[in-house]
Amino acid sequence: MKLSGKTALVTGAAGGIGSAVAGCFAAEGASLILSDCNREGAFVVRERIGEEGGEATVIIADVTLENEIRDLFAQIEDSFSSLDIVVNIAGGDVEPVADVETIDYERMSRNLDLNLKSCILSCREACRIMKHRRYGRIVNMSSLVYRGSPGQFSYSAAKGGIFSFTRSLAMAMGGYNITVNALAPALVDVPMFSKILGPVRWKAMVEETSGRYPLQRIAMPEDVAKAALFLVSDDAAFITGQILEISGGARL
Ligand SMILES: NC(=O)c1ccc[n+]([C@@H]2O[C@H](COP(=O)([O-])OP(=O)(O)OC[C@H]3O[C@@H](n4cnc5c(N)ncnc54)[C@H](O)[C@@H]3O)[C@@H](O)[C@H]2O)c1
Repeated sequence: MKLSGKTALVTGAAGGIGSAVAGCFAAEGASLILSDCNREGAFVVRERIGEEGGEATVIIADVTLENEIRDLFAQIEDSFSSLDIVVNIAGGDVEPVADVETIDYERMSRNLDLNLKSCILSCREACRIMKHRRYGRIVNMSSLVYRGSPGQFSYSAAKGGIFSFTRSLAMAMGGYNITVNALAPALVDVPMFSKILGPVRWKAMVEETSGRYPLQRIAMPEDVAKAALFLVSDDAAFITGQILEISGGARL
């Protein structure tokens, strides 16, 4: 097993991608810390991991609040002897707008808080702990829209910011044997979309999008989980500051 003896924090662990990453890491022997603001969802994931023979603890936190991020890491320090892996997944686009003139200050700020500032703050706390042991694997969740996406102005800015931040942190932390990388998935098939769009519109979107991707399908959460596993495993020990596109060849 690739992650035996490792402790891994996954934020956004109740979500489509976060639950797949957590399940994949648990199956590889990691002890999981599942964090999310969705209490019920996080406990469902914990139960599933437990049924599959894995080990997981839930710590509830809202990553848009600095004090809750601090508390999350303080609880980890109190309860675990190490923190080897952090995957910052909590996020989502809370301001999809078609027209630049309709950008709303509050929702734009929320997008930056949820997707960018949360990641920076989580990394700050993670590095503080990891530096002492001179070991760490951090993976941040960007998106293929880091390349730019009209209609996702503040979200793409946040996801682009994650890439720059990831590179800066990788440069700063290399001397402590802490690697920092980012994932950039194209469209991923998660339950959230059909909940928001309804199954008919979601199915149409999947078909239309699949036709545009060279591999002729959208991503599954497991595609993202396997890429995350690679980046936190020893196989990627000499890889840092990179953004890995999980895109089926989209936007080449
Ligand atoms: N699904 C996609 O197509 C796609 C593509 C590229 C990037 N992403 C990114 O992947 C990540 C996961 O998205 P997903 O598709 O699994 O969506 P999702 O909605 O299923 O998961 C997001 C999770 O984050 C949690 N969350 C939201 N706000 C939070 C907060 N303030 N504090 C703590 N937790 C919070 C939610 O409760 C949820 O469990 C996001 O960062 C998203 O931007 C998704």
